[in-house]
Amino acid sequence: MVLAFLILAAVKFGVCAGHYKRLAVCGLATYGQGMSNDVIRLRDKLKQFSDCWSPRVVAELNDYQFKLAHLEGEFVWHAHAHTDEAFLVLAGALQIELRDRVITLEEGDLYVVPAGLEHRPVAPARCSVLLIEPRGVVNTGAAGGKLTAPGDQWI
Ligand code: NI
Repeated sequence: MVLAFLILAAVKFGVCAGHYKRLAVCGLATYGQGMSNDVIRLRDKLKQFSDCWSPRVVAELNDYQFKLAHLEGEFVWHAHAHTDEAFLVLAGALQIELRDRVITLEEGDLYVVPAGLEHRPVAPARCSVLLIEPRGVVNTGAAGGKLTAPGDQWI
């Protein structure tokens, strides 16, 4: 009798554990740090900070982060050895200097800098962008310097 109860309990626990695991996989418990299932209103988020060259994380997609940044002036030449980096211009205009040409982006334009390619963002006037790149990417790559921003700044 006791043995039957233990077997029944084990089976029931196993089913429940599997059930909760499926719920987690469905997304109820797996949002990234700082995320909720609310709509993320980029225009509102952009008003929550004003400093330049200091990306703020607004969402994650698996291991990728969506970061907002205000840019003005010249950044530093740098590269990201192991990852591509996407720039989507939300407001204003941005130039991305490459060693052999200049990419000019206006509002609504998207450009992906390939991994390992040296680039230097230049914003003649203040602009706002959405960056998409893997978690842990440093904004200045290996170049370092005073424009290196802390990672994982959620808003
Ligand atoms: Ni970069």
